[in-house]
Amino acid sequence: METVLLAGGAGYIGSHTAVELLNSGYEVVVVDNYYNSCPESIKRVEQITGKTVKLYEGDVKDHSIIRTIFKENKIDCVIHFAGLKAVGESVAKPILYYRNNIDTTLTLLECMEEAGVENIIFSSSATVYGEENPVPYNEDMKKGSCTNPYGWTKSMMEQILTDATVANKNLSLVLLRYFNPIGAHESGMIGEDPQGIPNNLMPYVAQVAVGRREQLTIFGNDYPTPDGTCRRDYIHVVDLAKGHVKAVEYALAHKGVEIINLGTGTPYSVTEIVESFEKSTGVEIKHVYGDRRPGDLPESYADADKAWKLLGWKAEKSLEDMCRDTWNWQSKNPNGYEK
Ligand code: NAD
Ligand code: UFG
Repeated sequence: METVLLAGGAGYIGSHTAVELLNSGYEVVVVDNYYNSCPESIKRVEQITGKTVKLYEGDVKDHSIIRTIFKENKIDCVIHFAGLKAVGESVAKPILYYRNNIDTTLTLLECMEEAGVENIIFSSSATVYGEENPVPYNEDMKKGSCTNPYGWTKSMMEQILTDATVANKNLSLVLLRYFNPIGAHESGMIGEDPQGIPNNLMPYVAQVAVGRREQLTIFGNDYPTPDGTCRRDYIHVVDLAKGHVKAVEYALAHKGVEIINLGTGTPYSVTEIVESFEKSTGVEIKHVYGDRRPGDLPESYADADKAWKLLGWKAEKSLEDMCRDTWNWQSKNPNGYEK
């Protein structure tokens, strides 16, 4: 069976993808520097699946570790998750973000070329559609202007990877544009474990529920949406992980570039998320309304048709599943992995 290298695979989406790949019969190799994760997530992946993951500690910017991995393993496909992703931090530390996100991508491409590895899947984001495009976003739209350096790194990495694939006809590239991944594996053994104060909605809600934060501030209720709060396309991380398995199958069988949205196509507002979490868990989420957060768009959701047509993949889990599984993970691991 084929072997997949997960760069940044100890993180939130990488660990869930490792489970789905192992369950589908793939061998999995992970490289991570634990900048935003810890090896415990991979131990738990092994417990969930009863299979072994070959784990390397190292920086994806470092050619020597990637060369070693390609020498010691026959890698058929790379999935590039290794990025910094905090939007606010990227505004404060743009150089760190450009250096890490762009350099990891270049190092992977250079080492892939040397070793003759021809397939790569990239973790991109709906943020590249920018402010100009109307919802629902489809893959034929021109990319727009991003509102922060994090978004620009994604847009630039898409360009770098696309140029490399146009130049090398043997390469196969799938750019996966994720919408808003939330939830956790149904075992409650792996999940999202943000450092410090969470930036994203669902981890914040979960920490209010478990008593780590006093209350949620809803950023703005005067948007042009049905209830005045922003609407997003929340997708269960296990559905997202299954989309990666399909993308690997696709990349192994084709050449060239494909851009694919991974979303549900159905938006929910911040208020609907809070209400759904309360309903599915029975835990009250104390909340107040505050100012808008700079850079937030009123609405972001996918046209999810291409993923269905090309990969035969669509999201299957409901918002209730997403809330229930988030709570299962958070209540079993109130302080995350406790590194
Ligand atoms: P995460 O932070 O949990 O995972 C990223 C992993 O990459 C971490 O384990 C981190 O330690 C590792 N890493 C970062 N830089 C590295 C480096 N130089 N060398 C080695 N390892 C490195 O984040 P995630 O939510 O799992 O996201 C995975 C990818 O998906 C990221 O590229 C992110 O930008 C992208 N993405 C995430 C979301 C989201 O909402 N979670 C949305 C769109 C896109
Ligand atoms: N929100 C709150 N209070 C909070 C946190 C978030 O009201 O404490 C609101 C936000 O204002 C927004 C919604 O919840 O309206 C969702 O916010 P998130 O931060 O969870 O998600 P975003 O849609 O802002 O960002 C996510 C990813 C980015 C990615 C972007 C692309 O975090 O990496 O989607 O659409 F770039």
